[in-house]
Amino acid sequence: MPQMETATLDTDLSLFKYDNLEQLPPRYRELSEGERAERIDAAREALGDDLLILGHNYQRREIVEHADFVGDSYALSKHAAAADAPYVVFCGVTFMAESADVITDDSQTVLLPSMEASCPMAGMAEALQVDAAWAEITGAAPEQEIVPITYMNSYADLKAFCAEQGGLVCTSSNAHRAFEWAFERGDKVLFLPDKHLGENTAHRLGMDDETAVWDPWDPEGKGAAAVADADVVLWDGYCQVHERFRVEHVERVREEHPDANVVVHPECRREVVESADVVGSTATITETVEDAAPGETWAIGTEIHLAEHLARWHPEVDVLPLCGDACMDCNAMRQIDPNYLTWVLEGLIEGEERNAIEVAPREKELAGIALDRMLEV
Ligand code: 13P
Ligand code: SF4
Repeated sequence: MPQMETATLDTDLSLFKYDNLEQLPPRYRELSEGERAERIDAAREALGDDLLILGHNYQRREIVEHADFVGDSYALSKHAAAADAPYVVFCGVTFMAESADVITDDSQTVLLPSMEASCPMAGMAEALQVDAAWAEITGAAPEQEIVPITYMNSYADLKAFCAEQGGLVCTSSNAHRAFEWAFERGDKVLFLPDKHLGENTAHRLGMDDETAVWDPWDPEGKGAAAVADADVVLWDGYCQVHERFRVEHVERVREEHPDANVVVHPECRREVVESADVVGSTATITETVEDAAPGETWAIGTEIHLAEHLARWHPEVDVLPLCGDACMDCNAMRQIDPNYLTWVLEGLIEGEERNAIEVAPREKELAGIALDRMLEV
């Protein structure tokens, strides 16, 4: 693995990375559902092939019904890359829109309807903070080659950092292959920011006893000695939507519905993942319900909107949220409401690019390398 210096990346520690992002003007706040649906349809028609709307699986119904493609973060990035449309409106969260900007060409503009759609987990590993931790972690194991892997759910500056240090990006569906890629090139993996996906992947590869957690907020919790011994160092980030699921929810659903099958996202705790029948990305969860025979029961361990979509899209399958009313919606995804979508689309008709996401050129180049390496695995 090439030796590289620690990165000096342009970054700040704020939740919102883009100072050109605008708030919704008051006249858009009170639109009725019927009016905004009509206005969104009219804008789509006026913009025609100049517009591509992408909707993540966790978006609300009023958004996904206006999207050209609905899918997981990986598939949506691929749609963005394949698109010719000059405008890509990404109904998802900031890191997804950034990845779309990295992989679309420079003539295309990616817009994120709301400035507040920032994934809290991505914010748990800021590039500056990781850069500082990198010095400590590499210092704790000076003889070892450490390969950083960041989950797609991270900002472009962290993806750029990973590229500079010889690492790559992964999604929940190819994390195990990213680990294998890394171990062909180094001795140790630093996995960011989701400790659960990292732990679940280590378990899948039979490396349960070889992990240590690095808590960047707790000087005691960093455990330099444990990190020196571990093959997989897990950054102490998590998704609160998925951490909520417990083994008791799986047990309860099986007690109340003896024929129930359980499918969960790999951001869930390891014991929940182990007790499920199927584990995978939001695309895998969707395909699992699509492939289910009529009358089968599936309990869904992920964000509530996807469970609701699946129940609506597949009335022949009995779809249940894994923890009932306690299942959460994602506060970041929820920020994209149809009023914002109307405002951004009407802006394009008026010649204004509202909430354009533009990753800085150097970060874009490096993050592109980390994403390309992901496509190689
Ligand atoms: P997917 O990549 O599986 O769509 O998941 C994205 C996400 O944010 C999960 O919380
Ligand atoms: Fe981030 Fe969790 Fe929301 Fe996914 S569900 S975007 S990981 S907060």
